[in-house]
Amino acid sequence: MQRYKLLKKLYHERLIGVQYFDDIKPTKPINDIVSKLDSFEKLRQKVFSCSLCELSKSRKNIVFGEGDESANLMFVGEAPGFYEDESGKPFVGRAGELLTNIIKSVLELDRSEVYIANIVKCRPPNNATPTLEIANMCKGYLFKQIELVKPKIIVALGSTAYKYLTNDMQTNISKIRGIVIDFDGIKLIPTFHPSFLLRNPSAKRDVFIDMKKVKAML
Ligand code: URA
Repeated sequence: MQRYKLLKKLYHERLIGVQYFDDIKPTKPINDIVSKLDSFEKLRQKVFSCSLCELSKSRKNIVFGEGDESANLMFVGEAPGFYEDESGKPFVGRAGELLTNIIKSVLELDRSEVYIANIVKCRPPNNATPTLEIANMCKGYLFKQIELVKPKIIVALGSTAYKYLTNDMQTNISKIRGIVIDFDGIKLIPTFHPSFLLRNPSAKRDVFIDMKKVKAML
């Protein structure tokens, strides 16, 4: 019976175009200051007093993340931008509006039904790509959020989110997007970042395909 169910699941996944990539084990973050935090409240307190890196000096607000804390689906972006730093909420600028529309129109979900977070919780000045050193310092918080939410699926938004989540620094986002990776029991699917879509609207088609795949796997 187990075998039949597994075969049925694999057959369904093949029908919806799921392609598997080698499994990736999340590497343990360098700092282990979150290992004993067993609730969102404790984690929030820790993050809100963080001064591990230089971004803590220039930030206006910490962008912790938001949404359903037991969501099946989690989105991971790169880092807060201007509007996120102003408001303390992830993805609220133009890219955020586009992400919200994609969640609504393709996944047929409300934004509040998913969980949205970033690799880095504070805005890098001039929206620079966060360095690996900073990402590694901050990543422990995100990994704890993943552990607490326990999503079925994580969508990595863009190259930086994919690279820093997986430590796979080689594979290009256009090669890996839409491919399902087993991320320690969670399905990780990278796709293009909404900011990239604002600059390259023709890539929306690819994201549409990836999100249809996500919808079918939820
Ligand atoms: N881009 C990101 O990667 N994250 C945000 O929260 C906003 C824009």
